[in-house]
Amino acid sequence: MGEKILVSGGAGYIGSHTVLQLLLGGYETVVIDNLDNSSVVAIDRVRFLAAQYAPNLSFHQVDLRDKPALEKLFASEKFDAVIHFAGLKAVGESVHKPLLYYDNNIIGTIYLLEVMAAHGCKKLVFSSSATVYGWPKEVPCTEDFPINALNPYGRTKLFIEEICRDVYQSDSEWKVILLRYFNPVGAHPSGDIGEDPHGTPNNLMPFVQQVAVGRRPALTVFGTDYNTVDGTGVRDYIHVVDLAEGHSAALRKLADPSIGCEVYNLGTGKGTSVLEMVAAFEKASGKKIPLVKAGRRAGDAEIVYASTDKAERELNWKAKYGIEEMCRDQWKWASKNPYGYGSPEPAT
Ligand code: NAD
Ligand code: UFG
Repeated sequence: MGEKILVSGGAGYIGSHTVLQLLLGGYETVVIDNLDNSSVVAIDRVRFLAAQYAPNLSFHQVDLRDKPALEKLFASEKFDAVIHFAGLKAVGESVHKPLLYYDNNIIGTIYLLEVMAAHGCKKLVFSSSATVYGWPKEVPCTEDFPINALNPYGRTKLFIEEICRDVYQSDSEWKVILLRYFNPVGAHPSGDIGEDPHGTPNNLMPFVQQVAVGRRPALTVFGTDYNTVDGTGVRDYIHVVDLAEGHSAALRKLADPSIGCEVYNLGTGKGTSVLEMVAAFEKASGKKIPLVKAGRRAGDAEIVYASTDKAERELNWKAKYGIEEMCRDQWKWASKNPYGYGSPEPAT
């Protein structure tokens, strides 16, 4: 039996893809998730895709802020490491409900770290975000850029990074890897698992996919006057399967005795505009995406993409897929599951 990994938020978009990858790589995985933004069907699908490895996955519906439940879990099982995805991630909602975000993301993380320390489990991989680069002065973003945040969601990522650095400073037995994801998109090539946000999607590709299957009439393009190739915002889109693989690479790195608290970008190093992404999706799906041009969205940066040198050098990891594969797999998921893991919304 391989190492046993606790995965918080493992029923979610990135978590479910990572859990599958871990199972196929021989790890035992224990998922905790409160299903606030996910469905237990994702866990069933991961089990199906994992085939003979499915018995190595167990699931507990637990909220991170339920400290007694965390205590009970750690008292009953020994974990080699934790991958911590669980958190709320809607930027706009975080502006309206900052306390909810600070409570869920920060208090939840503090409880997790406390319980880990109490049980001698001091290896952590944390989901940070390129959001901590704000509007970067230049691109590509390297890990040593100054970090700042433009909204409460971003601040939770920034604060948790700092908390992890302080925890490591106080106790060098900790080994922590902070992964700054750029823009995860796409789905598992089977089309059986993918992103299924509750409510109106905030992010580009889930919105595009809902337009393609007829759930929404048009995509609103936020900003056409940026200083970019076609005036629309540029981002570093990364296939979620590549991102999942980045977590396996991070777990391998935690075995390195010299590691303390390290940060790595997970991106492709390539920038793609909104219109380029829409064109790639139209090609992959054969569907026309009607566009409505609008002003800039508050808090959006013009161009953000990663320097991938550090991850390539130290994690021995590099993204394999380009936007064609991202759009192909996104469409496979959308066309097989136009309503995600749920059933069609009732007509209004
Ligand atoms: P997601 O919403 O699909 O997954 C997060 C999961 O955490 C969900 O299943 C949710 O139910 C669970 N969760 C939330 N609060 C919880 C709590 N208190 N207790 C237990 N479970 C809880 O999001 P995702 O896209 O898979 O993102 C995973 C992580 O990566 C998040 O921390 C997110 O902030 C970070 N991230 C995401 C992106 C992105 O664009 N998707 C970019 C950068 C960073
Ligand atoms: N966009 C649109 N219309 C939409 C949605 C997005 O034009 O309906 C544009 C945005 O203006 C931006 C680009 O598409 O130019 C990408 O927007 P996303 O919302 O998909 O991604 P962001 O880069 O704004 O932010 C996302 C997450 C953050 C995370 C960041 C980096 O929302 O939480 O990626 O990982 F921090």
